[in-house]
Amino acid sequence: MSVTIIVGSQWGDEGKGKITDLLSKDMDMVVRYQGGNNAGHTVVIKNKTFKLHLIPSGIFYPNVKCVIANGVVVDPLVLIREMEELKSQGVDVSNLLISSRAHVIFPYHRLIDQAQEKLREAGRIGTTSRGIGPCYVDKINRRGIRIADLFNVDSFKEKLLWNIKEKTFMLEKFYDFSVDLDFDRIFDEYLGYARIIKKNVVEDSGALITKAVSSGKKILLEGAQGTMLDVDHGTYPFVTSSNPISGGACIGAGIGPTLIDNVIGVVKCYLTRVGSGPFVTEIKDKLGDYLREKGNEYGATTGRPRRCGWFDAVVASYSKQVNGFTSLALTKLDVLDDLETIKICVAYRYNGELITYFPSDLSVLEKCEPVYEELPGWKQDTTKISDFSLLPKNAQNYVKRIGELSKTPVEMVSIGAERTQIIRL
Ligand code: GDP
Ligand code: IMO
Ligand code: MG
Repeated sequence: MSVTIIVGSQWGDEGKGKITDLLSKDMDMVVRYQGGNNAGHTVVIKNKTFKLHLIPSGIFYPNVKCVIANGVVVDPLVLIREMEELKSQGVDVSNLLISSRAHVIFPYHRLIDQAQEKLREAGRIGTTSRGIGPCYVDKINRRGIRIADLFNVDSFKEKLLWNIKEKTFMLEKFYDFSVDLDFDRIFDEYLGYARIIKKNVVEDSGALITKAVSSGKKILLEGAQGTMLDVDHGTYPFVTSSNPISGGACIGAGIGPTLIDNVIGVVKCYLTRVGSGPFVTEIKDKLGDYLREKGNEYGATTGRPRRCGWFDAVVASYSKQVNGFTSLALTKLDVLDDLETIKICVAYRYNGELITYFPSDLSVLEKCEPVYEELPGWKQDTTKISDFSLLPKNAQNYVKRIGELSKTPVEMVSIGAERTQIIRL
């Protein structure tokens, strides 16, 4: 196996950071291919918790090259701070590379993100307000400024002037937002960032990966967000602005699909969602609060409480179809340890009829009722178990049922946040 993609199968925060870190041990390169610092990937090593926003979760292995590829949107200040913080914790970041084709987040992107959310009122997406969407808008609109531009002073100047003029007009005249986008200050600030990251910048992440594959190296492509937040395939418009799905990995990393061997779907044993948007299996009573506390379901980026719900097999099989998972990594089984019974949604009821496809029309989705199957809980601590056969029978059955409904073999079951808390099947 040479290239493996890790994808969140739900609404993000499935535990991609933990699984990526775990698999990085046997990798030569770990690559982030989309998203930006809207992501928050947690890795726990010997009781020490690291939260990564831009840097790939393979960074804890000094021999692993970590690449921020072309599909990522980079806020340079966040990146520099993250590098500094890791360094201060004794983590070697000298193996970090950044594609010159990656787009750069500017202060006006963050302001537009906030201004748009304010204007949306009830229709608010609940973005992370990191400027991710507006940066991708500029990319698609061919107004974006890329890492490479920061090293070409004249062209950078011209592009930044244009953007500041356009964004100031937009923010003040349309969004009624008072702004102080001072060209000289921003220009100097970003030239300063460019000087700091220069040694980490590479011409072409795709060339780097392709060459590594040719020489027999193993590569992991680490997705951010999740399938249901994908701009094409998620619960649009309550989505992010990139393609976290496996198909997005080739575009965002700059490689051909024929290089991909494995696609691992990371599946939380229940569901969570941050921000607005439909969520058929959401648990709105005390049990939802219980899962939030037991699972510590608070955003790794914004600290917002995550909405919690039951595992949804309609989402799971849709996710399998969109990503072509070759295996699954189940996470947070331990969070369900104390429950008497556990529900799995196997279909939706819409207008009295059973449906098993994931509706594209949100007005339909909002009216869907979950149809549940109930499984008995196991009421036993699973956090120290390292062999599948030693899991309580009911826990084994729950895992098997998820695999069956997801039509994909389960390869790993995570039973705690620590790197070592994993069961391999
Ligand atoms: P990511 O964005 O997909 O990387 O996930 P996050 O890091 O945002 O959220 C996952 C949270 O669950 C983090 O706090 C992890 O430390 C934690 N976590 C990961 N796997 C497990 C697990 O198996 N059990 C428990 N209890 N926590 C886990
Ligand atoms: P990781 O990689 C969970 C959500 C936001 C919001 C929507 C759009 O840690 O799984 P954006 O700022 O991207 O424009 O916000 O997407 N969102 C995430 N939810 N995990 C994430 O990343 C997320 N990144 C964005 O809450 O609903
Ligand atoms: Mg997260």
